[in-house]
Amino acid sequence: MQSILITGSSGLIGSEVVAYFHALGFRVHGIDNNQRAVFFGPEGDTRWRQQQLKEMLPNFHHHELDIRNRQGILKIVKELKPTGIIHTASQPSHDKAEAIPFDDFDTNAVGTLNLLEAARRFCPEVPFIHMSTNKVYGDLLNTIPLYELETRWDYADPAYVNGIPESFSIDQSKHSLFGASKVAADVIVQEYGRYFNMPTCCLRGGCLTGPNHSGVELHGFLSYLVKCNLEGREYTIFGYKGKQVRDNIHSEDVAKFIHAFYEAPRCGEVYNLGGGKNNSCSILEAFTLTEIFTGKKQVYRYVEQNRIGDHICYYSDLSKMKSHYPQWIITKTLTQTISEIVKSWQGRMF
Ligand SMILES: NC(=O)c1ccc[n+]([C@@H]2O[C@H](COP(=O)([O-])OP(=O)(O)OC[C@H]3O[C@@H](n4cnc5c(N)ncnc54)[C@H](O)[C@@H]3O)[C@@H](O)[C@H]2O)c1
Repeated sequence: MQSILITGSSGLIGSEVVAYFHALGFRVHGIDNNQRAVFFGPEGDTRWRQQQLKEMLPNFHHHELDIRNRQGILKIVKELKPTGIIHTASQPSHDKAEAIPFDDFDTNAVGTLNLLEAARRFCPEVPFIHMSTNKVYGDLLNTIPLYELETRWDYADPAYVNGIPESFSIDQSKHSLFGASKVAADVIVQEYGRYFNMPTCCLRGGCLTGPNHSGVELHGFLSYLVKCNLEGREYTIFGYKGKQVRDNIHSEDVAKFIHAFYEAPRCGEVYNLGGGKNNSCSILEAFTLTEIFTGKKQVYRYVEQNRIGDHICYYSDLSKMKSHYPQWIITKTLTQTISEIVKSWQGRMF
């Protein structure tokens, strides 16, 4: 039986990938220590999802381990010798990082190094898939000329008509401390691929979303927005007139791409992984879409000051992914995804 090791296995992407590979007949080992609750408090707690996986999946084995624990990571990879490693654990918030710079860097950069070196020592031939982020591009993206529509910004430069490609520079821009720790991880994952010829890849996520997110204000855009709508809680828009654009991809489509890479890995690759232009929306547009499914008007306030280094407009150019893995397609539309998030919160809240 093939066995896969997934870090951050109780989180949005980790738990989706756990369920996906389990359904394919894999033995699945998950590493998670509920650090999300430490980062974001009780609303970030992911134990509920860990419990669900434990109850539903007989071949899922949870390991309560911190990826910063170097000896622990070396030991578990040596013992399990998995046929693939999927690394989704992180401190995932742009804004949170400045308050916890050591925890942020130790988790995102050093935790990733611990896993890579463990893989190099004990299973260098197996695919190593790392969740990176579009924040590695920093605010250089905000220098692209834009035009303003009634409810969103869009690229005015025809070079970006299909979105942002992987060749966009990650250098000499402001990333946030989170973006910088993810750059460190992204570059070292590429390096283990290129220097040691290991089958590694970085998936630079746009907005990864889905029904199993424990969305909080500092992380999990759509999940948190829907939660606010259902609770009648005030949602705060930070700057850019609420027209800032995000491309949203359902966690199941992320899992499908991870599987495609696992089946036919390459060395040291980088892909922008988001919903693309078709699944993009601004905050104002997300309000309208959510209202359709909840029947409730979104309560919000507007603050003029944008979040430091926040992207004004981002959607991924998916052409490299599609050319390397032509069988992979986006299967979930944005409206489907929002309706699933609404149903999930309704089930969890009431
Ligand atoms: N969700 C998004 O919009 C988005 C966008 C771009 C990139 N990403 C990246 O994708 C990955 C997955 O994101 P997500 O939304 O599933 O995050 P998540 O917070 O839902 O899940 C991450 C999980 O990792 C666990 N974790 C954190 N630190 C840990 C540690 N030190 N040891 C063990 N476990 C730890 C957390 O408890 C949590 O369950 C992350 O690398 C994130 O940076 C996410």
